[in-house]
Amino acid sequence: MVDSSDNWILRVSNLEAKFLVDEGAVHAVNGVSLEVPAGESIGIVGESGCGKTATAYSILQLLPSTGKITNGKIEYRAKDGTVLDLTAMKTEGRQIRSIRGGDISMIFQEPMTSLSPVHTVCNQICEAIRLHQPLTEKQARNRAIELLAMVAIPDAKRRVDEYPFQFSGGMRQRAMIAMALACNPRVLIADEPTTALDVTTQAQVLKLMNRIQDEFDLSLMLITHDLGVIAQMVSFVYVMYLGKIVESGTVYDIFDNPKHPYTRDLIKSVPKLRGLRGERVAAIKGSVPSAYRLPTGCSFHTRCRDYLGDVCRLNTPIPEKVGEHHSVSCFLHSPVKETGNA
Ligand SMILES: Nc1ncnc2c1ncn2[C@@H]1O[C@H](COP(=O)(O)OP(=O)(O)O)[C@@H](O)[C@H]1O
Ligand SMILES: [Mg+2]
Repeated sequence: MVDSSDNWILRVSNLEAKFLVDEGAVHAVNGVSLEVPAGESIGIVGESGCGKTATAYSILQLLPSTGKITNGKIEYRAKDGTVLDLTAMKTEGRQIRSIRGGDISMIFQEPMTSLSPVHTVCNQICEAIRLHQPLTEKQARNRAIELLAMVAIPDAKRRVDEYPFQFSGGMRQRAMIAMALACNPRVLIADEPTTALDVTTQAQVLKLMNRIQDEFDLSLMLITHDLGVIAQMVSFVYVMYLGKIVESGTVYDIFDNPKHPYTRDLIKSVPKLRGLRGERVAAIKGSVPSAYRLPTGCSFHTRCRDYLGDVCRLNTPIPEKVGEHHSVSCFLHSPVKETGNA
């Protein structure tokens, strides 16, 4: 990000992460920089395979054993003002475990990733609570009921003792939100929190998240491939393509004045945004190339409608400021820089 404000609670700088596979390395995150301001909500949007989840997992040191952070810094400003570099913490060490859930918690796309099928909802929420707070079993149970009621689970007192499979998809997602809130986190990372849900349930869950963000004064990092969700939920947007932020700006910059050809294509491809942009639905040309063999130069050049030839194929664009809070990495908007060679 070109601007750097002072009120960030989470700041990622030049993050790189790879997965080591038999054939070599999958370059999932290739220099991501972003900030989550305290008490505000930002969104990361991009097609599937762009490295959104890998970025989120890197922040919480949850990458699988084949995944590795190879560069960059992830800073978290703790309650007392101390700035902690999360990348410097041991993956399974005490420090990061206390931050996970306690300070920064995460909602996963698929509820069954974090809800165990063999334990009751009560047991699971209580475990999350007692990991970070010195409550008795009874107090934790009451807190679990309170949390379930807060995320609008009907008859929470009774349903708390049910198993996740007895819940509907929407209820499971809400139970997961309750679990993520169990320890009053300051930052919530929500990775495609509504993708698995039908449209009506999705709307309810988004409304709930909006309310909770407000009530808890949470800083929210919302990850989605759906620009419609972004428009409803966040004030600042990062557009991600093949492990890089290609454009960032306020929700108005991104929707009313998109600069990157990728952002423009993304907007055009969302039917429900027609009202906002008035354009017909068109799919983005081709599909996301493999992160195993990244394109040279601007990684979007293989699909770009505005491809300028060698300048895009051979050079890597760097973020250029195009508005007060708006920046874009694209040669349509910036000259080739000496240092920009791929
Ligand atoms: N465990 C893994 N091993 C190897 N490659 C992976 C693994 N997880 C993700 N990837 C690859 O990393 C890239 C980024 O994936 P991901 O972060 O899941 O994207 P997104 O969340 O934006 O859909 C993709 O090319 C994906 O195939
Ligand atoms: Mg993902």
